[in-house]
Amino acid sequence: MAGRSVVVGVGHYLPQRVVPNSEFENTLDTTDEWIKTRSGIERRHFAAEDETTSDLATKAAEAALADAGLTADDIDAIVLATSTADLTFPSAATMVQARLGMTQGFAFDVQAVCAGFVFALSNANALIVSGQAKRVLVIGAETFSRIMDWTDRSTCVLFGDGAGAVVLEAQDGNGTAEDRGILATDLNSDGRYKDLLYVDGGVSTQSTGHLRMQGNQVFRHAVEKLTKTAETALDRAGLSNSDVDWIVPHQANIRIIQGTAKKMGLPMENVVVTVQDHGNTSAASIPLALSVGKERGQIKPGDLIVTEAIGGGLAWGAVVLRW
Ligand code: UT7
Repeated sequence: MAGRSVVVGVGHYLPQRVVPNSEFENTLDTTDEWIKTRSGIERRHFAAEDETTSDLATKAAEAALADAGLTADDIDAIVLATSTADLTFPSAATMVQARLGMTQGFAFDVQAVCAGFVFALSNANALIVSGQAKRVLVIGAETFSRIMDWTDRSTCVLFGDGAGAVVLEAQDGNGTAEDRGILATDLNSDGRYKDLLYVDGGVSTQSTGHLRMQGNQVFRHAVEKLTKTAETALDRAGLSNSDVDWIVPHQANIRIIQGTAKKMGLPMENVVVTVQDHGNTSAASIPLALSVGKERGQIKPGDLIVTEAIGGGLAWGAVVLRW
């Protein structure tokens, strides 16, 4: 017998306002064509002025709880991945905890930028397999529209807002790769690459700042590191690339997604792609893709999924799970 963290519910929330690429043509020297061909993005959602990350996160959490047939009383912990929390403190996770009416357990944020959901899943899994929690709500939620430099065409056309969530539950497995639940994880970071992707402000430097990215440099690292982390996690689970039913990648750029699938020897039919509709929603992109993938009828119980992500830090990682 082995303790496994099994996904028993998934849900997402996207803010109402949809912004097509063409809207940027009015204010920037850019085109719908450039954005589409270089990134695969066609539109993104932006939060309303009075809508915050914890608002989006709460709605995604409610959807995941409903999907699981559970209420907040059934949850022991909330792990929320975000780089755009409402306030410096408390954590967005405790704000969601209060909004859900959850008065037991504990909640905290995880900050690993675009790799945040992979780091959050891995930490939630550790809480479950070590017996510290039986059911954990794992959320990725972001309002990256709040840290865009709207005069920088090389970044502001790429990001969007949104939230996704899963409910993980402790269940017994046989300890084999046939078990449902999280089978293996792999986390990495290398702080030497800070300058490739960062926000030029923060509490300790007394400003909010804007996102700065050397996109083509991040791109250079992405395919290689994503392939390696996915294959490392699969290897730890005793599985190989051909066992994968779905790659559910971080949705930053269709060319990175295609390059990684190709390097792993998998066709695009085995990849859940949402980047065209959501843009890059950082830590929210994987749970959003899991939820949309299930809604579309792509992801089914028993399917083997590998999620992978890379972002600021650089930080990157992968999680292998059976749905
Ligand atoms: O989620 C966190 C991880 N982040 C990522 O994974 C992002 C990784 N990087 C990327 O997705 C791509 O590098 C970008 C989509 C950001 C850029 O694509 P690229 O093919 O790497 O283009 P580039 O940065 O090399 O720029 C090519 C040209 C430049 O012009 P010059 O110097 O060749 O004259 C840019 O100034 O495209 C220009 N450019 C634009 N042109 C029209 C940059 N942004 C735009 C724009 N519209 N919005």
